[in-house]
This record gives sequence, C-alpha cells and structure tokens, in this order.
Amino acid sequence: MSSLQVRILGSAAGGGSPQWNCNCTVCTAVRRGDAGTRPRMQSSLAIRSGDGPWLLVNASPDVHRQVELMPAEHREAGGRSTPFAGVLLTDAEIDHASGLLLLRESTEPLQLFATAQAHGALTDEWPLVTMLSDWCGVDWRELRAGSSTRLDGFGLTADCFTTGEDAPRYQRSPGGPGTSIGITFRSAGGQTLTYCPTIEAWSDELRTRLAASDLVLVDGTFWGATELADEGLGTRSARDMGHVPLGGDDGTAAELARLDTRAVVVHVNNTNRILLEGSAERAALEALDITVAHDGLLLEIT
Ligand code: MLT
Ligand code: MN
Ligand code: ZN
Repeated sequence: MSSLQVRILGSAAGGGSPQWNCNCTVCTAVRRGDAGTRPRMQSSLAIRSGDGPWLLVNASPDVHRQVELMPAEHREAGGRSTPFAGVLLTDAEIDHASGLLLLRESTEPLQLFATAQAHGALTDEWPLVTMLSDWCGVDWRELRAGSSTRLDGFGLTADCFTTGEDAPRYQRSPGGPGTSIGITFRSAGGQTLTYCPTIEAWSDELRTRLAASDLVLVDGTFWGATELADEGLGTRSARDMGHVPLGGDDGTAAELARLDTRAVVVHVNNTNRILLEGSAERAALEALDITVAHDGLLLEIT
C-alpha cells in the first residue's frame, strides 16, 4: 500500500496541557473540563510508510500513555512487544528526549536516529544514552542537517535541515547548526511530510521546502510574541525561547497562509489560546484552514 501515515501522540509543548503548576487562562479551562477544551500530552508523533513499521518521533515524558494510542496488534503474541521499531529525535530538549529513559525495558537495543549534536548532548551533558547501556542499550544512527538519510527498515527517507541553533538550557557547550532539526519524510510511494516542532526563524529555504510537501506539521508553540509575560508568567518572549509566534504580520500563520499546503500546528504551549475552541486565535487559524493538532489525530497522505 502506498501511503504515509502519521499519528499525533502529543500535541502540546513541554509541560503538556494543563501544565502541573500553571494557572493561566487555558490551563484553568482545560483543568475544569470546559466545553471546547481537551488535555494534551507532550510533543511526539508516530509515522510509517504504507503498512511498514512505526517510527516514534520524539520520546516525551508521556510516552508510556502515548503507547496506548497506538494500534494493539503487536500485543497479540504475548510476552513483551512494542508498536515502535525505532525512535527519532529532532533535538535533545527535555520534552523530546526524557521518554528514552521510560523505554529502558525494551528487549532489544533502541534504534535511535539523531544528529551528532543531539546524540552528543545525551551522551556528554545529560547522559541518557550512556545510562541506557545498562538497560536495553542504544543503536545510534546519525542524521545530518543538510543531508538525506535512508531510515533502513522503515521505507522512509529523512531529509534533515536546521530549524534552530539554540541549545537546550542544560547544555554547557554552544548550540549551532543541527541543534534542532526539521525533517521532510518521504515514503516509498513518494508522499512527503515535513515536521518542524521548532522554527526559530523563517527563511526562503524553509518556505520552499514546506511548499513542496504534501502535508506540514509546524511549530505552534506561541500565539503572541509576549504571551508568557501577558499571562504574568515571566519575561521571556517567544523569540527568546526560539519559537516564531503564530500571530502577527510576520508570524507563522501568515507564512502558512501563503503556502498552498495542508498545515497542522503542533508543539502548542499550554498558554496558547488556540487550545480553546471558539477563541479569536483559534478562529483566525480556522479561517486560514490551519488545523490545531490533538492527541490521537491520524493523518494520512495517499
Ligand atoms: C522548547 O521547545 O523551546 C523547549 O522544549 C523548552 C523547554 O522545555 O525548556
Ligand atoms: Mn519543546
Ligand atoms: Zn498554562
């Protein structure tokens, strides 16, 4: 079968929605269970080509519950099993990598696709990969920003490109190219999907790449440039945190509106009012035909 399938496993950014210690407008509404709200887990998805094996893309701290959103056929044989034949990381941020530790019971070494930058961070600075050698072990396959890698056994290729050079806050060595990557996945049937949960800046290269994709899943972290400060939650701006906001004339929504490609926003921060159905921000996205991802959403390109 020729298709590319993606299942969104976590549509929120780090912290999830609601975030444990947050009393912002959106977290309060989601916690209360208001109409038009739903809880969301942290940033992750699963992808496969045709009826091939699933690849877990980003290992969030919610991975143990996200596994339960996957088809259960693999459980029929009993014993131990997993719906994922490998893991790919777009960066070494805490929300995207800490789930690796929760996969330690794997009966085989984890097949891990990551850049040397992310692998280095998880070996030298926050040594999850090193720690796992005492459990299942890790079989690292290098991804390179600026190149295409065949994901052996998955029927997929991954064209990787830098979308952010800001290192995670725990990292002592500087960031740079390859720190956060976006990926254009290409299936055996030629379908393409570009995933970039971090966009530090828009560029012509990014516009061209997204315009050439059948489907794009992009950074929807913040609506407003000063969203956290506006909620009384500190002083860091969206751009300080390495995310172009959705709103505004030079925001991501305006960029997506100029593309003729189906667009879904992912990695949505708990403060972002697009998480409230009926909000002005959500209506603005809907008017542009941009979808807000939710957990469990299955997208298929045929
Ligand atoms: C980000 O997406 O900017 C990071 O994951 C933020 C964080 O969790 O520290
Ligand atoms: Mn993040
Ligand atoms: Zn909140």
